[in-house]
Amino acid sequence: MQVSRRQFLQVGGLGLMGAMGAGALVGCGGGSEAPAGSEPAASGTDKPVIFYNRQPSNSSTGELDMTALNYNKNTYYVGFDANQGGELEGTMIVDYIKAHIDEIDRNGDGIIGYVLAIGDVGHNDSIARTRGCRKALGTAVEKDGQIVSDPVGTNTDGKSDKVKDGEIEVDGKKFKIRELASQEMKTSAGATWDAPTAGNALSGTWASAFGEQIDIVVSNNDGMGMSMYSNWAKENKVPVFGYDANSDAVAALGDTDFPYGGTISQNPAVQAYLTLRLLRNSLDGVDVNTGVGKADEAGNVIAEDDFKFSKDDRSFYAMNLEVTADNYKDFTDPANTLYETAQAQLDEKDSPKKKVWLSIYNSADNFLGSTYKPLLEKYAPLLNLDLEVVQGDGQNESSITNKLGNPADFDAFAINMVKTDNGASYTSILGQ
Ligand code: BGC
Ligand code: CA
Repeated sequence: MQVSRRQFLQVGGLGLMGAMGAGALVGCGGGSEAPAGSEPAASGTDKPVIFYNRQPSNSSTGELDMTALNYNKNTYYVGFDANQGGELEGTMIVDYIKAHIDEIDRNGDGIIGYVLAIGDVGHNDSIARTRGCRKALGTAVEKDGQIVSDPVGTNTDGKSDKVKDGEIEVDGKKFKIRELASQEMKTSAGATWDAPTAGNALSGTWASAFGEQIDIVVSNNDGMGMSMYSNWAKENKVPVFGYDANSDAVAALGDTDFPYGGTISQNPAVQAYLTLRLLRNSLDGVDVNTGVGKADEAGNVIAEDDFKFSKDDRSFYAMNLEVTADNYKDFTDPANTLYETAQAQLDEKDSPKKKVWLSIYNSADNFLGSTYKPLLEKYAPLLNLDLEVVQGDGQNESSITNKLGNPADFDAFAINMVKTDNGASYTSILGQ
């Protein structure tokens, strides 16, 4: 049966919601807990501000930076449900192991060994994925009630105190699961989520030291995952699991020599839309839920299953979707796939042209550059917004804040920070 993307989203979304049980999030899309409407944005410090993709938070403790998130009444965060996505990545890997149990243990030592590429030890997206994968694989160790997300370095002997050996039994056969190695993939200059660093770590360091012990490659994202896939894993027929469902990773799921193992879509069509839509709503002085949980006059609406609103966090979270060999054809062109029921042109009479300043922390980021930015550029004209995109170097906040010299020229701001701790570096400029 041919399933349309929309049907898939509905089915997938419902399944996920069911599996999640009662989460920590309060509101849900379209429900009565939607935020109250906002007044028309005035000048100066009431201009709408959306933080996106990097949630203002303490990079050591993960605690949300509520000062930045409450900068003004038109400030929100747009991201995705990081915990649900991290757990989904983990269970996807376990399902793959079960389905491939006869060939997964390449050297037959009874241990399913994996290596893990960590994106940014201080970024909650990255932390949630490390935790979700360790939890599902049974390798997680807790400290102070939370799963440790630190890299182990090398753990071929299974003695690390940051992880433990997991165990899995399939068809009466028992295997250990071991995190052989993990590290943060950061350049010497400090850029995180670095794909070439991951590719080199695998093919250069890990594979030469203990290559035949590696049965699975796990990555916090597809940028790093694809670099490891093409540098070593594909050739050695070791499955790689990533996150983001970038178009190259989705295409590799259909590779006929040896396919990519699987990925998670963080529903970028919903996130990119929300990033601009929430700005639009504040600019128009309408309820922030307009065209989101509640259809606008043009018919734009996001289905309840595809996002959540947490009032306490002032955050909108898209729901993640699993992408595997079974369904990848529904995800082949993420940069051009707008949300099916949210792509109608707004009327300029009610939503006049406005100027938006938008930052991207690193011009080299794979997911933001190849998927998110193209989507933003497609939504902007539909929402009558003129986008000025400013890109940083991924290392220094000033590579972006230096380009915010004239906030008075813009009506609204969408901010993607280099470091999640640095919300105030932006709000202090806007507040002037
Ligand atoms: C994505 C990564 C990306 C990062 C940038 C994450 O949500 O999954 O691929 O590098 O955001 O902040
Ligand atoms: Ca093995």
